[in-house]
Amino acid sequence: MRVGLLTGGGDVPGLNAAIRAVVKRGEGEHGHTIIGFRNGWKGVVDGDVMPLTRRDIRNVLPTGGTLLGTARYHPHASDGGLDAALATLEAERIEALICIGGDGTLNAASKVAEAGVKVVGIPKTIDNDVWATDASIGFDTAVSIATEAIDRIHTTAESHNRVMIVEVMGRHAGWIAVTSGIAGGAELVLAPEEPFDITRIEKFLKHRHRAHASFSIVVVAEGAVPAEGTSMLYETQVGKFGEIVAGAIGERLKVEIEQRTGFDTRVTVLGHTQRGGIPTAADRILASRFGVAAIDAVTAGTSNVMTAIRGGEVVLVPLSEVAGKVKFVPQGLLTVARALA
Ligand code: F6P
Repeated sequence: MRVGLLTGGGDVPGLNAAIRAVVKRGEGEHGHTIIGFRNGWKGVVDGDVMPLTRRDIRNVLPTGGTLLGTARYHPHASDGGLDAALATLEAERIEALICIGGDGTLNAASKVAEAGVKVVGIPKTIDNDVWATDASIGFDTAVSIATEAIDRIHTTAESHNRVMIVEVMGRHAGWIAVTSGIAGGAELVLAPEEPFDITRIEKFLKHRHRAHASFSIVVVAEGAVPAEGTSMLYETQVGKFGEIVAGAIGERLKVEIEQRTGFDTRVTVLGHTQRGGIPTAADRILASRFGVAAIDAVTAGTSNVMTAIRGGEVVLVPLSEVAGKVKFVPQGLLTVARALA
């Protein structure tokens, strides 16, 4: 069987582990030919192929990024893109396609499946917002990196008696902020799921610095927004609320907090460090499990599904259930972050 493979959207640590699992199991156990496409859906549209054998996946397990390359490109969103993608798949005699990606890539996968191609998706995103799966490849590494950064930032916060704001990624969900905030012992965690009240933040910090400690760590998700009716003192040119612009919310909070409290405040934007470097063991294991499940599903003739992990078990869920939905942080986890502030 000729099986296509692509990685789309932002890179995450663990992609190479998933590619390795697909190739090892696909070629070794099932005797398939694995045809990689470079740079996600762009490579499918352009016919940019990279056949993969076991030689190509030697020593890639602990590496970050993706050996196939990636791009933020969706064929159904560009003129003639979907037709061009389908033409390449036919020309390359691809019998099934494995797509490793976040919501955008999986949404495109579902469109291609609707056109009759056999497709299996694998969820990856540091944001952990893919619907129907407890975890996605890359999230565990991102949380570990953010937690280590918070631990390190504690040193400066305490030594200089400062408020240190740490802005993390996550787009419109607060998974990285909430989990790294809990793991790193942040005093405040601001996530998009619970719009914040700047006056309460001001009161909290003033009280804490008067009664308990002279420093604070505030972890803010890049997609955090103020509650409706909250009046902010400072107007920024960098991004509107609700629009994700790296650094915008961190910078805005820094000025607000400084103006309202008089406390020396700094902001650190972790940015793409959260997606870089070697994957954690948990991400390598998840990626390997998803890779094996995906190629086994393809071999069994299953299509239009995504691998998911639920309660520790890898299962297959319909792709159509996943597309267009966002998995937000549940109340229980938000409560833990709040309870430990
Ligand atoms: O979706 C993953 C993610 O890292 C988000 O957390 C972030 O908002 C976005 O990608 C950044 O995208 P880019 O790498 O294209 O700047």
